Amino acid sequence: RIPLVIDTDPGIDDALAVLLALASPEVDLRLVTTVHGNVGLEQVTENALRVLHLAGRSDVPVAVGARASLIHPQPERAGHVHGAAGLGGVELPPSPTAVDPRPAVVALAELLMSSPTPVTVAAIGPLTNVALLLAVFPEAAARIGRLVVMGGSAGCGGNVTAAAEFNIWSDPEAAQAVFGADLPTVMVGLDVTLPTVLTEEGIARFAAAGPVGRTAAAILQQYVDHAKDVYGTPGVVVHDALALTEAIVPGTLGTVRRDVVVDTTLGAGRGADAGRPPVGLLLGDRGGGGRDGGPGDGGGVPGAAAVPAGPP
Ligand code: BDR
Ligand code: CA
Repeated sequence: RIPLVIDTDPGIDDALAVLLALASPEVDLRLVTTVHGNVGLEQVTENALRVLHLAGRSDVPVAVGARASLIHPQPERAGHVHGAAGLGGVELPPSPTAVDPRPAVVALAELLMSSPTPVTVAAIGPLTNVALLLAVFPEAAARIGRLVVMGGSAGCGGNVTAAAEFNIWSDPEAAQAVFGADLPTVMVGLDVTLPTVLTEEGIARFAAAGPVGRTAAAILQQYVDHAKDVYGTPGVVVHDALALTEAIVPGTLGTVRRDVVVDTTLGAGRGADAGRPPVGLLLGDRGGGGRDGGPGDGGGVPGAAAVPAGPP
């Protein structure tokens, strides 16, 4: 089983992502680290503890991460999307477990340094914690087996501004540090998540699956209502859970190899990401990671960006 860390800001789709990981025999969720994002740090941390408790897995440690972005304060949170407390208005029972006493980057570094097998890190919130890990414990960051990031949109526009996706926009400087680092990163952006809709029938199947599924369906209802109000569409996009499918089973999503650059200016494009072919690809060397449309192509290679399977 692949050791897994989820760095998260629960968040409706974050909660679903954690539940998905816990239900997947391919991975062993060893640590949850929390980061400012959808709602404030105290609330996302409380939510992470409660989601684990809901699944009967309060044994998984939760370590508290960054309260704010690296340089510029995050301009806005996403309570209007996730509900003021982050879990779609659902009040989960409190966990009997306290948070891990170690700061998130310390807990993460210790796990990376002590694990006999490579650890996958799924980063499904702003990238502040991962950037701090790179800055403070580069030798630990170098041991990350795979980094699966939900964020960005590969230049296809944003969901918080016209240009930027929420996680990258929340801390563009951190995102640039992460995408600019030599890590085996797979980026799962809006270009992949938006076409992948969880239908209301799918949510009803959760509801029929048992008490945890019923609670997951209740949490998702806020997303359903928001999508209907704002986009007039049925069903929901569970960005973070889709990213987790790639973390759990590498190659679930097709990938292309790209260098990702983030707009860190303070203008209208702030937080936008763009992918450009690595120099080797421009020169005609596909380097084994070029697009061939097949699931798994480039999975796990540095700088791979997931693409929707099949024709655009
Ligand atoms: C991302 O933003 C957050 O609101 C979601 O949890 C997800 O991580 C999607 O843009
Ligand atoms: Ca998230």
